[in-house]
Amino acid sequence: MKNKILNILKENKDKLISGTYIADTLNITRSYVSKVIKELIENDFIIETIDRSGYIYRNDYRVLNITKEYISNTQINNVYQLDKIDSTNKFLKDLANKNEDEITLVIANYQTHGRGRLGRTFISNKGKGIYMSILLRPKYSISTSQRITSLVATSVSNAIDKICNVETKIKWVNDIYLNNKKIAGILTEGQTNFESKKVEYIVVGIGINLYHQDFPEELDNIVTTLEDETNNIYSKNELVKEIINQIILYYNHLEENIHITEYRNKSYVINKNVELNIHGIIKHGKVLNIDDDGELIVLIDNKKETIYSGEITKVRLYNE
Ligand code: BTN
Repeated sequence: MKNKILNILKENKDKLISGTYIADTLNITRSYVSKVIKELIENDFIIETIDRSGYIYRNDYRVLNITKEYISNTQINNVYQLDKIDSTNKFLKDLANKNEDEITLVIANYQTHGRGRLGRTFISNKGKGIYMSILLRPKYSISTSQRITSLVATSVSNAIDKICNVETKIKWVNDIYLNNKKIAGILTEGQTNFESKKVEYIVVGIGINLYHQDFPEELDNIVTTLEDETNNIYSKNELVKEIINQIILYYNHLEENIHITEYRNKSYVINKNVELNIHGIIKHGKVLNIDDDGELIVLIDNKKETIYSGEITKVRLYNE
């Protein structure tokens, strides 16, 4: 019955439709209609209830509905859509260790222990964002495979720009920024066999803050959502599909490294003064560029240094 009511609502998208009409059409009571619609709203469908007049169905942008058919990319091997999980990265790494093939996607409505880089937590509130992981088994050298980090950041940034009509930036290594605040993060984990010099697998986790939500006070002005920055909501499913297609497109050209120019163009840090935390050592300098392997070229005390890993802890405009 839920689907029948939903179909009537969808057929009348953006139009006011009375509870009596739905009840009469399906030969059920108005109170039953009202109960089901309440459930649909609780399940993230956007339906306006107009007092005594009826309902207006707006969209299902916030309802997660990802299947292999929907993604419709022949390179996708498997899709697991979950409601609740501790961490999609952890779930997918367990599958990878059991020989799951690439390219597999895991996506969840929420995570109880969403993980960020450097052992941090990634806030993954129910229904409020995209929490997904992708399993890749690159057939390239370890150094070529390491490009996947910048490749995914470029893909996520491009996809958000396209679907949400914004201009996001990438804060090295792979945080996605909008209006000087973080809207998405990426956690790349993998397993390498150093004897055979082969990458066994890479699991890339992507977390995007899509809809308005409450973050802890200490994250004010640091973290934001796409809804808060644009006053708009966007379709979760469309964004996921676009991200996957972007990733696969660039992944098929990993050796040619075609994404790196775009990655540089989208940089939030090139030409800026930054503070770096390199495994506990704090350094200050000006970012000159990002090289073809995604490493940061920084001018520190008048000397060029290449930074392979670490974190940018502060960003200031040059000469600010
Ligand atoms: C960061 O900002 O430090 C990285 C955040 C990565 C979060 C995503 S959400 C889906 C996947 N599963 C996790 O536990 N983490 C990643």
